[in-house]
Formats: sequence, structure tokens, C-alpha cells
Amino acid sequence: MTQTSPKPLRSRAWFDNPSNPDMTALYLERYLNYGLTLEELRSGKPIIGIAQTGSDLSPCNRHHIELAKRVREGIREAGGIALEFPVHPIQETGKRPTAGLDRNLAYMGLVELLYGYPIDGVVLTIGCDKTTPACLMAAATVDIPAIALSVGPMLNGWHRGERVGSGTIIWKAREMMAAGEIGYEEFIDLVATSAPSVGYCNTMGTATTMNSLAEALGMSLPGSAAIPAPYRERPQVAYLTGKRIVDMVHEDLKPSDILTRQAFENAIVVNSAIGGSTNAPIHLTALARHAGVDLPLQTWEEVGHKTPLLVNLQPAGKYLGEDFHQAGGVPAVVAELMRRGQIHEDALTVNGRTIGDNCREAKVVLPDVIRDFDTALVKDAGFLVLSGNVFDSAIMKTSVISPEFRDRYLSDPTSPDAFTGCVVVFDGPEDYHRRIDDPAEGITPDSILVMRGAGPVGHPGAAEVVNMRPPAYLIKQGVHALPCIGDGRQSGTSGSPSILNASPEAATGGAIALLKTGDRMRIDLNTRRVDVLIDAAEMAERRAVFEAAGGYQYPASQTPWQEFQRSMIGELETGAVLEPAVKYHRIVDT
Ligand code: FES
Ligand code: MG
Repeated sequence: MTQTSPKPLRSRAWFDNPSNPDMTALYLERYLNYGLTLEELRSGKPIIGIAQTGSDLSPCNRHHIELAKRVREGIREAGGIALEFPVHPIQETGKRPTAGLDRNLAYMGLVELLYGYPIDGVVLTIGCDKTTPACLMAAATVDIPAIALSVGPMLNGWHRGERVGSGTIIWKAREMMAAGEIGYEEFIDLVATSAPSVGYCNTMGTATTMNSLAEALGMSLPGSAAIPAPYRERPQVAYLTGKRIVDMVHEDLKPSDILTRQAFENAIVVNSAIGGSTNAPIHLTALARHAGVDLPLQTWEEVGHKTPLLVNLQPAGKYLGEDFHQAGGVPAVVAELMRRGQIHEDALTVNGRTIGDNCREAKVVLPDVIRDFDTALVKDAGFLVLSGNVFDSAIMKTSVISPEFRDRYLSDPTSPDAFTGCVVVFDGPEDYHRRIDDPAEGITPDSILVMRGAGPVGHPGAAEVVNMRPPAYLIKQGVHALPCIGDGRQSGTSGSPSILNASPEAATGGAIALLKTGDRMRIDLNTRRVDVLIDAAEMAERRAVFEAAGGYQYPASQTPWQEFQRSMIGELETGAVLEPAVKYHRIVDT
């Protein structure tokens, strides 16, 4: 028997609308031509979209093509009708010049599809870095019942008996190659071993982060985020996800019921505990803005800084995705945070229950992988939000700061110690690659590397290039990291303690554009300030010269979309969204 919904299904306006028989007939006839029947389309069964992000172009999410079959079976079993359709693919590692261009493009495309077609509810197939925020942002904008299904991480990678994590190994291998320890072929081999199966990055990169946060937000079934892609539980949860979305349509349970300020605060705390990616603030800020939730960047420090690092995954720790799942996944982390009063237990989730009810009984199975507060890997592991005369805001991931650096510069709030050094400024990644190994640049262990021209406008979409390695000659002397600052992003798989997402960016006139190689800079983590030590008059003079020269010069757009996005995109601090899109909320009701 078909269940009835509390309000008429929006798909009725297409498929069963007696007041407009012409259009109804037109809408119906073409959906019949591959075998759907009139009875199905007019039965009052919810039409469920499967927003397919997987394709040959997007290997991280490609397994969703298989999983969608089980999603369909779940939908059918619960009394719905599935319509699967493609989402603009986003492959983090495949898209040139950067997949950062594509989140907003996929978002906009999906909004059009969800709004313009007869879809009563949608399964969002999430996974690779930006596919998750793109899908959630669109669902929040349209506000029809929506549930996210993660594709799951790859199996653990192994090399000579050691876990090799995707992404993270690249940062290590490039140092080994710079130091002359390995050659090109071995470099390629080493990196390839980190990707042993279908699925997304097995490290706590942006993908594992965002899929975990989707669950912490309440947008996917409890316990589902961490299941590795090849495990049998993965298609099982795909089936359950398909079943559940049909009931969500009947219950009219929408993203606006789930994506509340409380849900975002839960996600921020979970992000600290898992050692989540520095891309998370950008994506969650964007999602909050499209959901109409006020979430200033400062919230990340206010709510998240005091939470310890509990999850021992690369790059902050040593394990990988399979271990995280075996250890208990997101519910086990949430349960520990609940015991310490750090979770809003009443926040609603897609299964119709609260996150408290979902996670209260969850247990940690592998205590070295998911720690408790007493055995935490790092205390106070959330992000710092920094400001100063070089930028209005930037973030720093403290869970990856070395213990020596933390002891000296961060652990004692009364300490006058601040890090000072001379900056070496690079204008974009090409400039960096050209100059980094040149001894004439005079880079020393006291240098601070600055990357600019890498923000959403300067390098369309904002490139993940701020985590710069030291010059080869310093690596050979044992210097493996230098402080890095930039107006771009950093890969979530990087363990560098960089100062990232500096806003405003050079390309929109941020003061980072005024820096010159050789300037002294002071980084005071206790006061959360980063300042270049030049006086105000000198700064004003540089500003005048900069503006007279027409501002920051950046490369021309290569594609129409690069140009369109550049004309509409905001700063990383405010989520790098298409600003004109933010005013559209809950558009199916309007
Ligand atoms: Fe797709 Fe890392 S490249 S998840
Ligand atoms: Mg990335």
C-alpha cells in the first residue's frame, strides 16, 4: 500500500495535474519511453532522485555507479521510484588547474536539477573532497528531503609493511626525491601503492573529513561515513539509505530541519577531534550560508579549539580509513565527545532520531585509533583563527604543529615568545616551483614562506598550494618544514602547520599583496596575530604604488567559467561562495 505524505508531493505537479492536462501529458510521455508505466508515475509514490557524482572522470566517486543499484532497490522496496541523474563531476586530483573551480559549478547545476525536475527527495552520492559540500549546499538551497551517502574510503595502502596514506605520501615522497633518496619511477610507485582500491583518500584528508562531518551534521545514516568503499557494509548502507529517503519524504524531513546552528557546532567539534582538513571551514561556511545559518569563522576557534585530537589518522597520526571504521567510526568519536559535554545531543538527523540517541551507546573498539580525552593525541587541537596587518583572517591547524613548536609558541599564554623571521614571497605556484631550490633566494631555517595569488580570484577557485616544502638544500640538512602563509588553500592530506585561507586575498587587494621578500614578520600564536614589521607610513606608500599599478596582476581566465566565477566569488573566509546565490533559501517553498 502506498503511504500518504502530509503534504502533496511536488512531483504531482508534473505527473498528475488535472488542471493542466496538456503539460501533464507532455511531462509523462517521455518518462514512459524507457519502461516506466503510467501507473507508477501516477501512483502517488515519491520520485527519488539519485544525484550521481561518480563517473570515469571521477574515480574517487566512481563506485557510486555500483552503489546506486542498491540505493534503487531500497527506494523501490520502500515504495518510491528512483530517477538517477549525473552531477557535474569533480575529481580533486584530476581537474586542471584546480577542482576548487568546480564545487560552485556542481552546486549551481544541482540546484537547477533539484528545482526544475519532478523530484520529491534526493540521495546525494558524496565522496571526493568537493562533491560533499557541492551536494549538501544544493540540497540546503532547494530544501527538499535529502540524505547523503558516502562512497567510503579506499582500503589501507601498504608499502614494505607500512601504511601508506593517499595524498600524505606525496608530501613525504617529494621530500625524499628532493633529498635524492628516490628517483622518479620509485616516486610514482610509492604514490600508486597508496591507492589500492575503489574509494576516496584513505587519510584524514578533505574527503574523510567532509564525509565524517556530513554524518556529524546529521545528513547521513549513523555509522555510515567511515565504511570503506569495498566492504560489504557499503552496499548494505546504500540500500538502507534508499529505503530511508522515501520515509523522509513522507515525514517531510528537510535539510532545514537538520542543518541548524547546533548541527554546525557539532560538526566543528567533531572536526577538531578527527584532525579534520583545513578545507572544512571553507566548505562548512559555504554550507551554512546557503542554509541561512549564521556561522562566522571565529566560531571555529570559539567552539572547536578546546577539543582534543582523538582520531589517530594520517596526516596528524598514523592509521588510515579502514582502521577508523574498525575502531568505531564517527559514532564512537561523537560518544566520547558527548561524555565530555561537547555535543548538542538534541540535533536531529536523517534517521529521524537525535545524534545523542544515535551515538550514546557507540563504543571504541580500537583504543589506539580512537582515543579518549585522557589519552588524546593532542590537547586543544582545533583551529586557531588569526588576524593582523597582513590579513583580516586566516586559520591554522594546530593538531599538526610539532610538539617543540607548540611548547615554545603556543602552550604558555603568558610567554612573550613569538616566531619572527624574514618572508620569502612567491606569486603563485609556478613562481614557487621556479625559485624554491635556487640558493640565491637565501632561504634559511628562519625564513617564512609566503604564497599569494592563490586565492579564489587570483588562482581561480583557490589552489591547494600553500603547503610549500623547504628548498632541497635545507631538506638535506634536516630542515623538513618552514612556516608557510598564504591566501590559498592546502590539501587536507598535508601535515604542514601552515597559516592558510588568508582573506582578503592579494587579487582583491589584501595587504598580503604588499609584502616584499626580506620583510620581517612576527607570528604570535598566543595573541593570534600575524604582523609584518613595517611601519604604517611604509605600508601606505606601498599601497599607493600598488594601486597606481592597477592592483595585483593575475593570469587571465582560461575558460568561460573561470571568468564567471571570478566575477561572483567571495573570499575563503566567507566560504568562497557565489555571492549572488546566497540570497536563495528554501526555494521549493517560495
Ligand atoms: Fe578524491 Fe582525495 S582525491 S578523495
Ligand atoms: Mg584536496
